[in-house]
Amino acid sequence: MVSKVLSAAVIGLDAQLVHVEIHFSKGKSKFFIVGLPDKACSESKERVSAIIQNFLGRRLPAGTFTVNLAPADIQKSGPVYDLPIAVGILNCIGEINLKPQNKLFIGELSLDGNTRHTNAILPIADLAKKKGINDLFVPSINAEEARLIPGLNVLPVKNLSETVKHLNGINTIQKPKSYPRSVPPEQGWGEYDMSYIRGQEQAKRALEIAAAGRHNFLMSGSPGSGKTMLARTLPTILPQMTVDESLEVTRIYSVAGMLEKDQGLCMTRPFRKPHHTISHVALVGGGTVPRPGEISLAHRGVLFLDEFAEFSNKALESLRQPLEDGLITISRAKGTLTFPANLMMVAAMNPCKCGWLGDSKRECTCTPNDVTRYRKKISGPILDRIDIKINVERVEYDKLSRNQITQTSKQIQKRVSNASRIQFKRFRGTKLKSNSDMSQREIKKYINLDKQCLLLLEKAMNSFNFSARSYFRLLKVARTIADLEGWGSVQEQHIAESLSFRMDEL
Ligand SMILES: Nc1ncnc2c1ncn2[C@@H]1O[C@H](COP(=O)(O)OP(=O)(O)O)[C@@H](O)[C@H]1O
Ligand SMILES: [Mg+2]
Ligand SMILES: [Zn+2]
Repeated sequence: MVSKVLSAAVIGLDAQLVHVEIHFSKGKSKFFIVGLPDKACSESKERVSAIIQNFLGRRLPAGTFTVNLAPADIQKSGPVYDLPIAVGILNCIGEINLKPQNKLFIGELSLDGNTRHTNAILPIADLAKKKGINDLFVPSINAEEARLIPGLNVLPVKNLSETVKHLNGINTIQKPKSYPRSVPPEQGWGEYDMSYIRGQEQAKRALEIAAAGRHNFLMSGSPGSGKTMLARTLPTILPQMTVDESLEVTRIYSVAGMLEKDQGLCMTRPFRKPHHTISHVALVGGGTVPRPGEISLAHRGVLFLDEFAEFSNKALESLRQPLEDGLITISRAKGTLTFPANLMMVAAMNPCKCGWLGDSKRECTCTPNDVTRYRKKISGPILDRIDIKINVERVEYDKLSRNQITQTSKQIQKRVSNASRIQFKRFRGTKLKSNSDMSQREIKKYINLDKQCLLLLEKAMNSFNFSARSYFRLLKVARTIADLEGWGSVQEQHIAESLSFRMDEL
């Protein structure tokens, strides 16, 4: 007797169909799973036989069950085939009258037969839709995630016996009439708000511009000057994600197993702040079952690298590709894999090894050699991708009045969102999303400069002696400043302001 059930495997962010074939022959009691299962997947046999005997209230018929997971050349990982294997076995022994067409099953079962949270449901639902599958059986806790793909009949499975009844036409699985929709968390950052930061007007302005154009951003300043606090406040002014961006982010978090219970779409831009001692795999992604790393978890959001110079050279090197191409390639035993990684990098560092170079209160104890060595840690190619660099100077914030009127995050976010909409329109139909994505060719195409602007640029070029690369970075930032102000073309004052964010090349 053979029965066939459809399921799926996920490699990277993409799913592939898996055929679960169960073969039963009478004789001695044996149970095999073949077709490149990993350890957790192999353990399904013990779990599923116990669950089925529990369900039936008797032993399985004597004989050999062979479960073949095809195609055999892709790795089947984790306990996600419990549900399809259980359904297949019950069909094999005549307990279910399964019409397998157009049905896909996925999900881990606990010993009492209840379903458990299963990773990577979103890419599986996407695959099911593309393959014309009608009914998608997923753990009820993941149903909201599966429902993000429209046009599928998502069946939220609570346990095995409910599934059996449904398939035998006794009782249909109930679908909730409406699912709780995730709402954009407007608060959520509670303790952070731009208005809590006293003084630091230039730094706040730089953050606003960086957020508006998604420019990579570097702060340098002595300990206690407020760098970490400034970075942590950034999420409160970022523009909302578009639906497409939300789906991209949700897919990554789905595969990483990081979606909250009952969560649908991820609505807030990610803000990731890996510690400088983070392992390479945790930063870039990988592992036997490849998971996205911090770099990909920051996709469409912010990767905050505090104590930037403390990261290992290897870690800093690994940022090059994502900053250049918006993705990261991971090499594996079987070829390579890419994860999206279009992120905004925000970095904070001390100006020198001891931390006090340029501080008004304390003296720097570094030798000029120390200072050079310290700064060389951040390589040219990384610095080249940073559009805005500022010095954060300590303010005597205790002395600044708390009653001073400062702008709230909400007010700033409104301007950032407007600027972001302007860019969205500008780049419609292209791959670009924001000003920071423009290459030199695109800068020439999208930024027209009048005579006065060119004159000012020429003056600046001569007196600061900056490279062609910094010239183009300057223009990108000027374009964002003009967008924040609602100007169709870049004006002199926008260039002048962007010159102030070009803290001299380290
Ligand atoms: N301008 C400011 N307004 C309000 N609080 C500040 C300001 N500057 C620093 N602080 C406070 O000082 C502390 C140290 O700041 P932090 O961001 O950790 O500095 P850094 O990262 O530069 O070493 C923080 O707890 C922060 O709340
Ligand atoms: Mg800090
Ligand atoms: Zn020093």
